[in-house]
Amino acid sequence: MAEGRPIDSTPDPTDPNREQWGSRRGFLLAAAGSAVGLGNLWGFPYKASSHGGAAFVVVYLLMIVLVCLPLLIAELSIGRRTGESPVMALFLLGGRRWRWVGYVLVLNSMMILAFYSVVSGWTLLSLGQNVIGGVPADPASFFGRISQGPEALLGHLLAMALTGMVIFGGIRRGIEHLSVSVMPLLYLLLIALAVWASQLSGAGAGYRFYLQPDFRELLSWSTITAATGHAFFSLSVGLGAMITYASYLRGRDNLVRLGSVVAAADTTVALLGGLVTFPLVAHFQLLDGLSDSTIGALFVAIPSGMNSLGGGGRLVAVVFFLVLAIAALTSAVSLLEVSTAGLIDRLGWSRRRATWLAVLVITLLGIPPAIDNRWIDVAYSLFGEAGLIFGGLMTAILLGWSYPSLGEAELAEGFPHPRAIRWWVLLLRWLVTPMLALLLVQSLRQLPAVLQTFFSHSP
Ligand code: PFF
Repeated sequence: MAEGRPIDSTPDPTDPNREQWGSRRGFLLAAAGSAVGLGNLWGFPYKASSHGGAAFVVVYLLMIVLVCLPLLIAELSIGRRTGESPVMALFLLGGRRWRWVGYVLVLNSMMILAFYSVVSGWTLLSLGQNVIGGVPADPASFFGRISQGPEALLGHLLAMALTGMVIFGGIRRGIEHLSVSVMPLLYLLLIALAVWASQLSGAGAGYRFYLQPDFRELLSWSTITAATGHAFFSLSVGLGAMITYASYLRGRDNLVRLGSVVAAADTTVALLGGLVTFPLVAHFQLLDGLSDSTIGALFVAIPSGMNSLGGGGRLVAVVFFLVLAIAALTSAVSLLEVSTAGLIDRLGWSRRRATWLAVLVITLLGIPPAIDNRWIDVAYSLFGEAGLIFGGLMTAILLGWSYPSLGEAELAEGFPHPRAIRWWVLLLRWLVTPMLALLLVQSLRQLPAVLQTFFSHSP
C-alpha cells in the first residue's frame, strides 16, 4: 500500500479476498449483537440507579440520538468506504497523520475486552451455577467467590475461549452464524422476563424510580458524562468496532437506515433491561442496594430475590443469566474482531494466527481485573468512558472537519438526500465535536478521583 496516498482519491474496497457478510440481516444482527451487551443489562440499571434514575435515562436517550447515532453512521461509512479495519481505514482516509489514531482504537478495544471478558465470565459462572446447582443459598458470598480470584480467572478464560472460537470461524461462519442464531432468542427471552416482572407486586415503585426524573441530576456534569460515556459504550461507537463490521459490507445499502436500526435495537434492550430489573429489585426491596451501585449489585440482587420464589425462581434466574451470557458473547466477539482484523489487514496474517495472538494478549491483560475486580471500575473509566469519547471525537473531526466530502460521498450511496447529509456533517462539526472535546476533558478530570478510590480501598 503506498504511504500517504492522496486523500481525495477513492479507496478501493473491492478486495476480492476480503470476507463479507452473507446478508444484510446477518450484518444487522451482528451489529446489534455488538451493541446489545452487558452495558445494556448490567451497566445501564447500575449506572441509572447511581445517577438519579430517570434523569440518567433522559440524558442517555438524548446522547444516543444527537451524538452516538451520527457517529455510528460515520463509522459505518468509514468502514464500507475503505473496506478496512480501523488502522488501515484511517490511514487510507486521512493519510499517515491519522494512523496512530487507529492504533489507539485497537489498543482500547483490547483493554476493554480484557475486563469485559472478566464480567462475561461472571455471567457464565452464574449461569452454570443456576443450571447445575440451583440458585446459590447465599448469593452475596457466591458472588464474592466468583468475582475475583481463581474462579473469576477461570470464568475469564472460558469467556475468552468462547469468543476466540467464534472469531476463528470468521465473519460468515463465526460472527454472523452466532448472531443470527442467538439474537432473536435474546429478544424473546427478555420480553418474556419483562412481562413476568410486570406482574410482581411493587413493580410500580420500580417503574417510578426508573421513569421519574430527578431534574437536578439533569444538570450535573457527572450525570452527563456518565450517560454519554455509557451511550458510547452501549452503542459500541468510538473504537472502530462498527468500522470493522462495516468493512465487510458490500453494495449500496442505506447506511443511515442500518445505523438507525442498530441504535433502535440497542436502545430497546437497554429500556427493556430496565423494565426487567427495576420492578424486580423493587419487589424484593433491593432498590437501596442497587443504588449503592456496587459493581455486583445485579449479580447479588437477582439471585437473592429468586431464592424466595422456589423452583420458578431458578428458571427465571437461568433465563436471566442466559440472556446476559448471550449479550456478553456477541459483544465480546466484536471487540476481539477489531484487533484480529487489524492484524489481518495490516500484517497480512491468516485469521487463525491473528486470532491466537489477540486472544493470548487479551487473556493476559485480563488477569489483573480477574484477580482484583476494583480494576474494572478504573479500566471502565479510562478505556470504556474516556477512551470511547476520544475515539468519537476523532471520528467527528475526521468526517466533520478534515474530510467531510468523503463521508458525504459514501453516505450518498443508498441515501439520496443531500440536504440531510449536509445536516449530518454540520451536526458532527458543531455539536458533536465541541461537546465531546468538553466531555473528554471532564472525564479525564474525574480520573484522579477514580484512581484515588482504587488506591484508598484495600482489596
Ligand atoms: N456495546 C457493548 C455493551 O453494551 O455491552 C460493549 C461494547 C462492545 C463496547 C463493542 C464497545 C464495542 F466496540
